[in-house]
Amino acid sequence: MALFNSFEFIAFGSSFNIPLPLIVNMLISIGAFYVSQHLIPRMKAMFINANLSGVDMNKATKIRIPEAFGVVTGCIFLVSLFLFIPIPFASNFSKDDTGEFPHHKFVEFIAAMLSICCMILLGFADDVLNLRWRDKLYLPTIASLPLLMVYYTNFNSTTIILPKFVASFVGTSLDIGALYYVYMGMLAVFCTNAINILAGINGLEVCQSLVIAVSIIVFNLVEIIVGNSKEAYEFSLYILLPYVGATLALWKYNRYPSQVFVGDTFNYLSGMTFAVVGILGHFSKTVLLFFIPQIINFIYSVPQLFRLIPCPRHRLPKHDPKTDLLNYSKTQFRVSDLNILGKFCYVVFKSLRLIRSDEDKDGVVVCNNFTIINFAILITGPIREDRLNRLLTMFQVICSVFAFAIRYPLAHYFYDTSN
Ligand code: UD1
Ligand code: MG
Repeated sequence: MALFNSFEFIAFGSSFNIPLPLIVNMLISIGAFYVSQHLIPRMKAMFINANLSGVDMNKATKIRIPEAFGVVTGCIFLVSLFLFIPIPFASNFSKDDTGEFPHHKFVEFIAAMLSICCMILLGFADDVLNLRWRDKLYLPTIASLPLLMVYYTNFNSTTIILPKFVASFVGTSLDIGALYYVYMGMLAVFCTNAINILAGINGLEVCQSLVIAVSIIVFNLVEIIVGNSKEAYEFSLYILLPYVGATLALWKYNRYPSQVFVGDTFNYLSGMTFAVVGILGHFSKTVLLFFIPQIINFIYSVPQLFRLIPCPRHRLPKHDPKTDLLNYSKTQFRVSDLNILGKFCYVVFKSLRLIRSDEDKDGVVVCNNFTIINFAILITGPIREDRLNRLLTMFQVICSVFAFAIRYPLAHYFYDTSN
């Protein structure tokens, strides 16, 4: 489909075709970076005055840091998309093969933005109103509705490709109907909350999101270069590049020692952005592959998330003001007070040495909170906050490399990728 004009570049003796909209998009993304970088420090006082602030719990001086700066990044990201959208759809190069305006593509863009916008609104509501934990689960479901609606009207393809070893029994693909919509809704809930619960040390929310975004961008570029369904991957790039632009500026101020906190607004907006590109680009399984640390953290957290083991309001590591190092934070309970599932989780986690626990003679157990952040401290011992963040970000990068290793060589092994 000759949807876009492109520019040919000659470099290093080979020629590259870069579509004009991609060049404009890159320029807008650079603009998003500079505008965010300019605005964030100037808006700090405004957020403090509006009582949007939180204590940095891992510092000796318990100063208040402006919170929910994800809303600034989110707005700049959205405005970048608004400015960009006319470009690929501008009259002289917007016609598809049949000479028609590509309404379906246009609607996809609008729906993607509507879902992201909705998520920013709900995330900000969470930051301002401090919603209860269970309410946080519904929000991404609501925000993903515009997306699911467009998926229904545009594709309504609810068929999944089955791995080869199952294919011999039930065929190469299976239509799972409405379940596919449940899956997409759950993907949005997972992506948003999984980032939010892997948080609590300076810079971690932003760093993990940046690694995921860059991984998806690399994946998209590889797919475009090898000549696979260019449009879906270009669509994803058009959304992710401005996201990375705006987020890089946020990282500058959120990195150790944080001058601003990102708030749940940012975590929700990031998760939703990844879910949106995965769903509309038909590569949601690959997006999930880039969430390996979040998946591990989620599974590890399940006993606390479902309250089988007591879960304090904050599970972030505990700061020692004497040494300025972080230690793992703890939860406390009596085994006899746990229900049967709680006891089961405790025994399994303990015997697999996934937790460090001490039981006194009165039967009171003290053990680390179930997050991979605390688990990392179990391995390293007390550690500086910035080092811990670097370590966890490195882990995210290694997992992305591993994800590529699964996606490429192993996908051919498990799935029939010839079509
Ligand atoms: C999630 C986690 C919680 C963790 C919190 C940290 C679950 C179920 N919830 O809760 O365990 O403690 O994120 O973000 O796993 N903060 C810092 N330093 C940072 C970032 C945050 O001290 O680098 C503190 C600040 O006081 C900030 C607060 O955490 O105000 C933000 O917490 P919030 O995002 O409201 O927590 P949840 O997302 O509900
Ligand atoms: Mg949070």
